[in-house]
Amino acid sequence: TGYITLDEGYANTGSCCSAITFIDGEKGILRYRGIPIEELVEQSSFVEVAYLLIMGKLPTRAELQAFSNALTRNQMLHEDMKFHFEGFPPHAHPMAILSAMINAAGCYYPELLRPEVPNHFEEQAARLLSQVRTIAAFAYRKSRGLPFVYPKPQYKYAANFLHMMFSHPTEDVELKPEAVRALDLLFLLHADHEQNCSTSTVRMVASSGANLFACAAAGVCALWGPLHGGANQAVIEMLEEIHRSGDDGRKFLEEVKSRKSGRRLMGFGHRVYKNYDPRARIIKRHCDELLARLNRTDPLLDIAKRLEEAALQDEYFVERKLYPNVDFYSGIIMRALDIPVNMFPVIFAIGRMPGWIAHYREVVESPTRRIYRPRQVYVGPPLQHYVPIDQRG
Ligand code: CMC
Repeated sequence: TGYITLDEGYANTGSCCSAITFIDGEKGILRYRGIPIEELVEQSSFVEVAYLLIMGKLPTRAELQAFSNALTRNQMLHEDMKFHFEGFPPHAHPMAILSAMINAAGCYYPELLRPEVPNHFEEQAARLLSQVRTIAAFAYRKSRGLPFVYPKPQYKYAANFLHMMFSHPTEDVELKPEAVRALDLLFLLHADHEQNCSTSTVRMVASSGANLFACAAAGVCALWGPLHGGANQAVIEMLEEIHRSGDDGRKFLEEVKSRKSGRRLMGFGHRVYKNYDPRARIIKRHCDELLARLNRTDPLLDIAKRLEEAALQDEYFVERKLYPNVDFYSGIIMRALDIPVNMFPVIFAIGRMPGWIAHYREVVESPTRRIYRPRQVYVGPPLQHYVPIDQRG
């Protein structure tokens, strides 16, 4: 590339100014709108954090109630949406269903496409945040061939999701408070993480003027990959494989380090954190607490802890500053909640929705907004001329 310096993977390219999330990757610090994640985990809830991220400040009691009412008002999908679910094959990955159905849901609100009509951003945001949960639960029910269970207005955000996932049409599942709290915590911890791959995707799509639902659908696709939100699924699959093979993790680490198989220790490493991911620290602590409260054990948690201990003492991981990230322990919690492994990235997507909405808003409301359009260095052939098909060798 001669004198041109590229920044492959945008490791050091600033794409925007943002007032939403602060990360200090060297020190392992994460704050939403300036508030440390640890304080939010102790004192707040996912819905309040969603308000904080989207509106830019903590709500008053009345504002929180109004926001919560807007979520309830918007929780039902249009009845015709049921027919869209029918179109997917039984083994479709729920992330594919989620992305397609978010885009489909947007079609029921034509005002999204008409900037001349008052767009009522706050109602659209509440609609998306509420409906992503309904779509996710319906995607799961569809994949199991189970009838849909409708949301109930009396349930709060995380409880309603568990209800739609696990209730029988004629009998509500027992919602254990510790399970509801654990899911709310996972949503909260995933709520934003500045310019990660999916959020940058949302911002990129938003910069072209596409509507909020289309941007969120694109975000789901970006999140799906195993290097991003799909890592939580990949971690559990890795731990299960180690468990099945009878390895205590050491053989697997050697395989990763040898690099022959191209395998990575999933749930480890991060573009920004060169220290322990604060979210992983919180989730790890809650794994032990939740399993104890639910009276459960999980052999995969022991394997994960052993892997972590071995990796953190190993030169390969120490040199490269590879620590557990948010995905390393989150799957253990989701397993304890009986959430199937292919739904793990979906849980991430529901949690990340407030962040995507906040970033969408930041892009569309920016007075200096321009379409995102990076440049490239062309390395293809120099000028050549068209050869008619019968003269080609
Ligand atoms: N296992 C083994 N080696 C690793 C790992 C890993 N998990 N992560 C990075 N490395 C090595 C990598 O091979 C490279 O070594 P070298 O410099 O000798 O070539 C060095 O560490 C730097 O890695 P990189 O790929 O240049 O780092 P990146 O910033 O481009 O990638 C990452 C970050 C998260 C994609 C990567 O660490 C990874 O693939 N981790 C496993 C997947 C994962 O857990 N993803 C979830 C990320 S956190 C939540 C989210 O964003 O969704």
